[in-house]
Amino acid sequence: MDTTKLSKMLYGGDYNPEQWDSGVWPEDMRMLRLAGMDIATVNVFSWAMLQPNESTYSFETLDQIMDMLHENGIYACLATSTGAHPAWMARQFPDVLRTDFDGRKRKFGGRHNSCPNSPSYRTFSERIASKLAERYKDHPALLLWHVSNEYGGECYCENCAAAFRVWLKRKYVTLDKLNEQWNTRFWGHTFYDWEEIVLPSGLSEQWAANRTNFQGISLDYARFNSDGMLDCYKLEYEAIKAVTPDIPVTTNLMGTYKQLDYFKWAKHMDIISWDNYPAADTPVSYTAMTHDLMRGLKGGAPFLLMEQTPSQQNWQAYNSLKRPGVMRLWSYQAVAHGADSIMFFQLRRSVGACEKYHGALIEHVGHEHTRVFRECAQLGAELGQLGDKLLGSRTPSKVAIMYDWENRWAIEYSSGPSVALQYLNEIHKYYDALYQLGIQADIISFEDELQGYDVVLAPVMYMVKPGMTPRIEAYVKGGGSFVTTFFSGIVNENDIVTLGGYPGELRELLGIWAEEIDALFPDQTNRLIMKDTYGTLQGEYSCSLLCDLIHTEGADVIAEYGDDFYAGMPALTRNSFGSGEAWYVATSPDASFLQGFLGSLCAERGIEPLPGKQPGVEVASRDKDGHSYLFVMNHNPNAVTVEFDQNYGVDLLTGQPASGPATVAGRGVMIIEASS
Ligand code: GLA
Ligand code: ZN
Repeated sequence: MDTTKLSKMLYGGDYNPEQWDSGVWPEDMRMLRLAGMDIATVNVFSWAMLQPNESTYSFETLDQIMDMLHENGIYACLATSTGAHPAWMARQFPDVLRTDFDGRKRKFGGRHNSCPNSPSYRTFSERIASKLAERYKDHPALLLWHVSNEYGGECYCENCAAAFRVWLKRKYVTLDKLNEQWNTRFWGHTFYDWEEIVLPSGLSEQWAANRTNFQGISLDYARFNSDGMLDCYKLEYEAIKAVTPDIPVTTNLMGTYKQLDYFKWAKHMDIISWDNYPAADTPVSYTAMTHDLMRGLKGGAPFLLMEQTPSQQNWQAYNSLKRPGVMRLWSYQAVAHGADSIMFFQLRRSVGACEKYHGALIEHVGHEHTRVFRECAQLGAELGQLGDKLLGSRTPSKVAIMYDWENRWAIEYSSGPSVALQYLNEIHKYYDALYQLGIQADIISFEDELQGYDVVLAPVMYMVKPGMTPRIEAYVKGGGSFVTTFFSGIVNENDIVTLGGYPGELRELLGIWAEEIDALFPDQTNRLIMKDTYGTLQGEYSCSLLCDLIHTEGADVIAEYGDDFYAGMPALTRNSFGSGEAWYVATSPDASFLQGFLGSLCAERGIEPLPGKQPGVEVASRDKDGHSYLFVMNHNPNAVTVEFDQNYGVDLLTGQPASGPATVAGRGVMIIEASS
């Protein structure tokens, strides 16, 4: 989707007028306009209204809604309604109902719960998408399609089992190959007939959601499940595209959601959109990282912030209000990291059921004289003032972090070495170090090009897929700096260990051999002792989680372990390889080490922090047409003073020059267009 064709950043959110008497609609429209809104996501959960039974379709209410939006100058982000199937469908076509991990067939209820391999669900969802496309193809309000809603979960029914066997046959072709790659001689699980293969659930190979006897089958099921839901999305996508080839199609993703391989999904989306629901205590750098991951799904293209709450959520244990200024601050944080829209769930707070205490633009009191409305309207006015300046702008970065869903599944399905090893936590530690330094990063897939980056970080690259090693080697040979960590290079794409010593295929590049891997208890630490100084690193640092016991095979030893029987063994190594270098961080170091290490590595390569960085203040930048926009976001409740060069630029939000020291209010934001 080309957002540069818009006149301003999209502003609005989920709107469910069909859940209300139409008497309130005019008031909704008045208040949306008052808040400066120009987009409403409609029809997300109205399948039962559109299709009251198998053969009847009824679009009159949706027609009225679409017309009303248009009359009020509001675009429709039109959903296909397939996120929740109607009750009649569950009763008449029970194959739409999922079977859960424990083998229980679900009954009607909840949402996002249709079996992805249900023939009935596939038929009906494709059909409704097609009918909607036909009906609204020329509607002037239609800007964007929103397929289903937050795909997710799993199904373990017999239709899924049959589809899994088909998927496996396509992947392995022969049972011999499958038996080999799943290592089924272990415990004598050899298969002699495809029909013997059952889904890895709580009734078979798995004893918990992320605990399995056989990583191979569980990993393939995770891929199959993600692919199956993607197939459902693609069916609707194709049905829509056949009728409206020029209208962009998206589905709302969920950030770091584990079960779906969003890099794969992104290839079939015209624009990425996602729903941002941090808890009050989620680190702001974690949210920043998630935005960067979403931006990375389509190679750095801008994305849509499809949902966030204006204030409160309802589904957390403790649903704190967003403090004054926080909604605005977090909205600009999304923009700073690549969003070209700010949208909410929801525009009017529902009167009954489980989301009635979820924040909304229009609260139960029904008028605009509320704190939340005032804050939303202020933001709406600012977005109007910003116009199209930032639309389509990109985020320049010299550092990339490699992330991969299959690697995550494999690491977390792994029985040993430690239950405490969470892939995303390790990714976040590296991301956070850069964030605290004011250095922006891209998050890229295991398949993306590395050549444009000066530094590539690959924390816990446990799984090395075919073709990856030569690409990484070529990158380093060509002068790149590559950093990986403990528990890397261990297995192939099916979780089969690469024999001949860890880190497997990466051994030559890294110039080390990892002989053993020690798992530390949560209260246990070791120490990294610097042999010499490296940049700002000197003395000793704490480390924890896992410690690889490594030997150098040509790499320089930069730091050693301080304690235990492996004291004196290498803990940080650097290997020259071609004109570049490959680093191995053999353990999980503390934040001060990572900041010192990445700060020094970047400084050596001339990568400078962005201006304005200080504790609690986030900095990020976007570029467009030779203009550079610096976002300075103060997450502290109190005002801070930041320092700019003389005549650095102009704050787009206030029109004030940024030159020398500047005060940023508590939870305040500056967007500075740098002087050219
Ligand atoms: C999700 C859904 C919405 C709504 C919100 C509530 O993001 O997509 O329909 O339920 O959560 O936070
Ligand atoms: Zn199923």
